[in-house]
Amino acid sequence: MRIAQRMNRLGTETAFEVLVKARALEAQGKAIVHLEVGEPDFPTPQNIVEAGIRALRDGKTKYTPSQGIPELRQAIAEHTSATRGIAVSPDQVVVTPGAKPIMFFSLLALVEPGDEVLYPVPGFPIYESMIKYSNGIPVPYHLREENNFRFDPDEFRAKANSKTKMIILNTPHNPTGGVFEKSDLQVVAEVANKYDITVFTDEIYWRVLYDGAFDSLLQIPGMAERAILLDGFSKTYAMTGWRLGWGVMPKEIVPHITRLQTNSNSCVAGFTQYAGVEALTGPQDAVGTMVAAFKQRRDVIVDGLNAIPGFKCLKARGAFYAYPNTRGTGWGSRKLADYILNEAGVACVSGTAFGDQSEDYVRFSYANSLENIQKALTRIRAAIEKIQD
Ligand SMILES: Cc1ncc(COP(=O)(O)O)c(C=O)c1O
Repeated sequence: MRIAQRMNRLGTETAFEVLVKARALEAQGKAIVHLEVGEPDFPTPQNIVEAGIRALRDGKTKYTPSQGIPELRQAIAEHTSATRGIAVSPDQVVVTPGAKPIMFFSLLALVEPGDEVLYPVPGFPIYESMIKYSNGIPVPYHLREENNFRFDPDEFRAKANSKTKMIILNTPHNPTGGVFEKSDLQVVAEVANKYDITVFTDEIYWRVLYDGAFDSLLQIPGMAERAILLDGFSKTYAMTGWRLGWGVMPKEIVPHITRLQTNSNSCVAGFTQYAGVEALTGPQDAVGTMVAAFKQRRDVIVDGLNAIPGFKCLKARGAFYAYPNTRGTGWGSRKLADYILNEAGVACVSGTAFGDQSEDYVRFSYANSLENIQKALTRIRAAIEKIQD
């Protein structure tokens, strides 16, 4: 086979590769604590599961409109209006299998060769992968520990120019758990207005926030007209395996994103979408319970990591990731992550998976039980003490 050149520009998500390595160790009889993939360990709430089953029994087993069923688009429009404080209509919504295709489709639909795209580093690896795949020029803006993993406003301003087509935002942030404040979003809005830039705001973790209210770029006047919002069910409702997410965008982009869906997935499974209607319109208490549990786990893992020699970890405000600085161990993060997997039996992701200048960090997902988190901390500590003897 002669593989197309463009495939050389497509990256990947290392967490899934670590998962494969960890599963191979498990097959050899090793007990692994999984802190690599970012998915809630909670089951999908029962009312949502029942709605999916009901829909299957009611025969919702056929193709659906590429843009999403009207009932779900209506529920998403109302949900977005209520949570972001803006007017959203169902014809601004596209439903996709997981939220990831919104990222894939938006970059394919908007970025042309030579367009510059600003994206966060460290950051979700698919951003850089998709910018390159679309023949855009990736322009990283750095989120540094000394800034609480927010950007330096002047440095950010200096990265934008008339060639900038898109700015990618992610708050709360994967892998650091950092959260942008209103003042950061004001800077983004100022830059976007100045150079007529589309903003891609990835808010998939917006409900996983431990203190304060969530600030969305969409709340800033004028931004809803130039922004694409990525949101979904995977993290908020523990529905990673259902594959259900959505985008909210200006109407003129909708036919293009929908056509990309028609060309790829055709549509999202109908019963999954009915489960999504129940998730958004049914009882919400399971979400609060989950977020309260994540907060308790965050405190345990951050305190535990800070007690390990060579580790230093901020207590971030959102998402379910701890992103310690491990420079004090004297080991690079790739070697360290491999060592932690093989020696301690704890799967985590090297900072290098999230972009340059991340050699001193590793990411732990604490979407796991307190018992497993404590077991992981004990094992990592013992393994690190061994290399420091
Ligand atoms: C920052 C970020 N955006 C988007 C996604 C995609 O979520 P989904 O599972 O709904 O495709 C993820 C999933 O890990 C993520 O971390």
